[in-house]
Amino acid sequence: MTNADPKELLELASRLAAEAGRVLVQERPRDLGVASTKSSPTDVVTVMDQRSEKLIVEGILAERPDDGLLGEEGANREGTSGVRWVIDPIDGTVNYLYEIPQWCVSIGVEIDGETVAGVVEIPMLGETFTALRGHGAWRNGETIRAYSAQSEGKPVPLERALVATGFGYAAQRRAVQGAIVADLLPLVRDIRRGGSAAIDLCSVACGRVDGYFERGTNPWDIAAGGLIVQEAGGKLGGLRGTAASVDMTVAAAPGLYEALCEFLEEHDADRDS
Ligand code: IPD
Ligand code: CA
Ligand code: CA
Ligand code: CA
Repeated sequence: MTNADPKELLELASRLAAEAGRVLVQERPRDLGVASTKSSPTDVVTVMDQRSEKLIVEGILAERPDDGLLGEEGANREGTSGVRWVIDPIDGTVNYLYEIPQWCVSIGVEIDGETVAGVVEIPMLGETFTALRGHGAWRNGETIRAYSAQSEGKPVPLERALVATGFGYAAQRRAVQGAIVADLLPLVRDIRRGGSAAIDLCSVACGRVDGYFERGTNPWDIAAGGLIVQEAGGKLGGLRGTAASVDMTVAAAPGLYEALCEFLEEHDADRDS
């Protein structure tokens, strides 16, 4: 058990996400290129991904030396306090590389394995999404709800849903996801591929899209955004009643959530990869 205060953890997460965001905007090298690739040639890392993670990790450990860490660019530490920080130092690296403004810094904080606080900082849009378990979700301090203006507070049927999605980096997974999108496209209002899973989740949480699904997400992609969706009244999970995971992450307001899961369960059935 830990006696950490989730509100204080959110404050530290928000401060570090804002600081990382500032560095990513102001200190981006002019000749920024790909530093290395990971699982495939499309899975790129820049020096700024590494710098952002370093800044966040050092900031956490300076104040909370006993906490655990999980970061996309290598942070991995058990910790002894019961608190673990799940960090995506740039979510949407390809957008960042091409100077497309949809990228963010995402930090989720767990206590005893449960996410209790999350922040998604989107510097180029001037938006900070936050959530505290049991207390709500906010954009720049204003409460948000997972219903689009078009839904009038009622469940949106699939045929009127604007659905965001993303593609993991593994080639086989991309082919599978592409096939699912091809099946879904005629059934929905339209599809969006924004390039940042955490922003997609925040977009569900504030009604900027109606739903989101993706195969192949990692814990750092969904830790903060997942809590933000749930605290905004949306649902988050995987298929067949499972939790959101690398196999599938689905997020939407109730009603559409079930319809999306049903579609995905049928169309994803024999496409295991
Ligand atoms: C990626 C983005 C993208 C999603 C991929 C993620 P990264 O994260 O969130 O939208 O489709 O699955 O890996 O590599 O830019 O942090
Ligand atoms: Ca990455
Ligand atoms: Ca990511
Ligand atoms: Ca990343």
